[in-house]
Amino acid sequence: MTTSRPVSPALSTSSTSSSLDILKSFAVPIREPTAPESEVTIEVTGLEKGVKLAVDAGPGCGGIAWPAGEVLSNYLAYRHGLEPDKLRDKTVIELGSGTGLVGLVVGLLEPSARIWITDQEPLLPLMKENVLLNFPTTASPPVHVSELDWGTTPPSSLPSSPDIILAADCVYFEPAFPLLVETLCGLCPIGEDREVLFCWKKRRKADMRFFKMLKKHFSSSPVEDDRPGERERYEREGVKLMRLVRIK
Ligand SMILES: C[S@@+](CC[C@H](N)C(=O)[O-])C[C@H]1O[C@@H](n2cnc3c(N)ncnc32)[C@H](O)[C@@H]1O
Repeated sequence: MTTSRPVSPALSTSSTSSSLDILKSFAVPIREPTAPESEVTIEVTGLEKGVKLAVDAGPGCGGIAWPAGEVLSNYLAYRHGLEPDKLRDKTVIELGSGTGLVGLVVGLLEPSARIWITDQEPLLPLMKENVLLNFPTTASPPVHVSELDWGTTPPSSLPSSPDIILAADCVYFEPAFPLLVETLCGLCPIGEDREVLFCWKKRRKADMRFFKMLKKHFSSSPVEDDRPGERERYEREGVKLMRLVRIK
């Protein structure tokens, strides 16, 4: 996967050089920040056209595309080429979607799927813009935008029994760890069949505290990814792609 332009900037509305520095320490090293509110195209192997993304430093760190989102997008496109039934007619919720990249990719791959890309309120306008950019002529795009603040009751507009839960690059802010676990538990009741694909990039030792919390409720295993050299490539960059199963 390549980007035709680099993706970008900051952690808060006050886009200072220090917030940019923090963000750069999290983001893919080869990328340099662009000006806020620009548009990028992300190429995903398996999609005929690149995914157009408006990116914006303003609404928070989710306003740019993050590395685990790209890895998960590419994996889903690869798998769809082999096993289209895994997405066909499925109901999908993506957590912490940011720009909406992963959910948009699912919608572009499989228009019969119904996808909800979710995040905190400030990101919603950007996600809506990105749905329009990628489905400009579709009367009812397969991708819907909804607020979902981890640790709170999901809005009634979200499907209560999704088939698939996706999350990419959502492990980075320690106070949010228990909230994310709580939301995952809420969406994955014990004994119900859900596919949970969880992609994350290890940045700090503290990230492991999230997995300690997660382990109380979910088992995890690496996603079977047999693309030659791919797993090695993204794992070298600290990105892991996992499947979660609710256990207790
Ligand atoms: C690092 S970004 C990843 C964005 C996107 N998934 C990607 O891979 O490009 C993390 C995302 O999680 C969202 N997030 C953080 N805390 C959240 C919370 N408490 N509830 C919902 N979303 C949250 C942020 O707004 C942000 O969009």
